[in-house]
Amino acid sequence: MTAQIIDGKAIAQSIRTTLKQKVTQRRQAGFRAPGLAVILVGSDAASQVYVGSKRKACEEVGFESQSFDLDTETTEAELLALIDECNANPSIDGILVQLPLPAHIDDSKVIERIRPDKDVDGFHPYNVGRLAQRIPVLRSCTPMGIMTLIKSTGIDTYGLDATVVGASNIVGRPMTLELLLAGCTTTTCHRFTKNLEQKVRQADLLVVAVGKPGFIPGDWIKPGAIVIDVGINRLENGSLVGDVEFNVAAEKAAFITPVPGGVGPMTIASLLENTLYACEQYHS
Ligand code: GUN
Repeated sequence: MTAQIIDGKAIAQSIRTTLKQKVTQRRQAGFRAPGLAVILVGSDAASQVYVGSKRKACEEVGFESQSFDLDTETTEAELLALIDECNANPSIDGILVQLPLPAHIDDSKVIERIRPDKDVDGFHPYNVGRLAQRIPVLRSCTPMGIMTLIKSTGIDTYGLDATVVGASNIVGRPMTLELLLAGCTTTTCHRFTKNLEQKVRQADLLVVAVGKPGFIPGDWIKPGAIVIDVGINRLENGSLVGDVEFNVAAEKAAFITPVPGGVGPMTIASLLENTLYACEQYHS
């Protein structure tokens, strides 16, 4: 079997086109553009690239993006004060604080300080709790984008055995919740998981988010599986690869996401969708 490639870049572009039309209609009807505050603390190279892409995407669809670049020494109190300002600013619908933060700042405190109705990353305990109770509002962007990719395959998810490798707050845990709500029987793997190979081999649907190049050998993939690779790893020769051994996996899977051009663009598309949602549902 040779897998069909799930073209995240094209799907994300079509979402962005729709969003741009909606923003134009809003403006023509006399409403303001949605506003997103993008906050970066420090000079982590990968974060700078991600934040740059998010700001560019905002402009492309006609959102107002406000950029805050803070240096690494910024104190937790200073960051919390900036969040308070953004919380109170009526032209800001969404607040994104790029993670990871420098070690002296407590991620949880920062996430909890963002008003849940402006939490367009979907990380606040309020929004995660709503997802867990099957009443989602603002959903975590990467898992939300992955659900759109899975839907694009036309495969019915009810009853599928789904394995998620990685259990982070950003991807693995909310991903498992999304798949559970989509009717899958879920297995979440992490550093203490025994017999990872068996759990991957049983998966009709596999999501991998560990950040290690080629971590999942291609021959572990169940024939006919859907494979979603969240990893974006830069090799010494400069090329980007995922967490799954792509060439071999693509011979066994029915559907597979490429790296780059699979999950990455969908995270940004979901962020934009959440920002428009927050603007229309909470702040218009
Ligand atoms: N770091 C890696 N992924 C993300 C994301 O989706 N949102 C934020 N805020 N930080 C991240």
